[in-house]
Amino acid sequence: MKAVILVGGQATRLLPLTYNTPKAMVPVLNTPFLEHVIHHLASHQIKDIVLALGRLAHSIESHLGDGSRFGVSIRYALEKDPLGTAGAVKNAASYVDDTFLVLNGDIFTDLDLSAMIDFHRDRKAKATIALTPVEDPSAYGLIETDARDRVLNFLEKPDKDEITTNMINAGTYVLEPDVLTQIPAGVKCSFEREVFPKLLADGELVCAYTSRAYWIDIGTPPMYLQLHSDLLNGKCRQYDNTPRSEITTGVNSSIHPTARIEGPTVIGANCSIGPGVKISGPVAIGDGCTIQEESVIKKSIIWRNARLEPHARVTMSIIADNCCLRSGCLCEESVLGDNVTVAYDCHLPPGSSIEPGTTVEPA
Ligand code: GTP
Repeated sequence: MKAVILVGGQATRLLPLTYNTPKAMVPVLNTPFLEHVIHHLASHQIKDIVLALGRLAHSIESHLGDGSRFGVSIRYALEKDPLGTAGAVKNAASYVDDTFLVLNGDIFTDLDLSAMIDFHRDRKAKATIALTPVEDPSAYGLIETDARDRVLNFLEKPDKDEITTNMINAGTYVLEPDVLTQIPAGVKCSFEREVFPKLLADGELVCAYTSRAYWIDIGTPPMYLQLHSDLLNGKCRQYDNTPRSEITTGVNSSIHPTARIEGPTVIGANCSIGPGVKISGPVAIGDGCTIQEESVIKKSIIWRNARLEPHARVTMSIIADNCCLRSGCLCEESVLGDNVTVAYDCHLPPGSSIEPGTTVEPA
């Protein structure tokens, strides 16, 4: 079984984190997101992987290489311009010859892929779409099914009064290879809006595989924070990379005896946590960070090489690579791109989104 992972989107909702880092490479517990997806595929013996990519392709390719480091084989299908979810798979068609999987590359799930593939084969479906329930389906693609799990209808991002189900397209598909003949080559085309509705209109069997597996779309800063909270609090139970202990520390990192860490926290390699620092998890701190005395970090994600000077405070925020938070500054519910400096005593308004390379001074 081969899997095509879609990682060529624009990732606009996750800006400013994704100016320099593709969504597929944002760290999740200090490991690039795609590595988690590859690990999940490999745990179901799916080791032949094609990445459909475009923007920032180089950083994905140079990190993953041929996949051998991760025990899988990875090949790449590059788009000059984004071809949409189905167009991207068509662009990878030369790698596909049998029933295959397609995954949106921004979904974290412990979905039982083997069971979904068995279901698809039992039903002899042309396409099987994973479904997951969500509380507010209005931002997603809804799928109506009958009692025999056959898809009846698709509703993309419906108005409130059109919502008839809380079951959404979970972004994982099992497809027969001849679905590829339905997709035009070299032009933009979407599974959700074009290919699947066309299969239904042609009377093909499209099935829905419903599961209660852990599922989250990491496409927005709040969801990205939520994923960390869920993983660190053990809510994704089947996921065997969840840290086993409350505090995990990488090599060459030191925590001063007077620092207080409460709640699940992951600290990368070569970090220094200074005297009187207070950390309230869930918190993830990347490699090479220096957290100086009396700084406070609550429920936040900090990427690599951050420097928090004395008494800096970070709450419910995401801080990308190489940021410097000067003494006494405050970041609350904010997202900082790479190489941002927040000046001495500067209090960012909650909800700030700071572009890479900016120095923010007090107003
Ligand atoms: P936003 O701009 O924030 O909506 O993000 P996005 O561009 O990633 O779009 P969306 O979240 O709808 O995409 C779902 C998945 O499909 C992501 O993993 C994207 O990388 C991927 N994707 C979306 N459009 C394309 C495309 O044109 N080509 C490829 N290869 N992947 C795509």
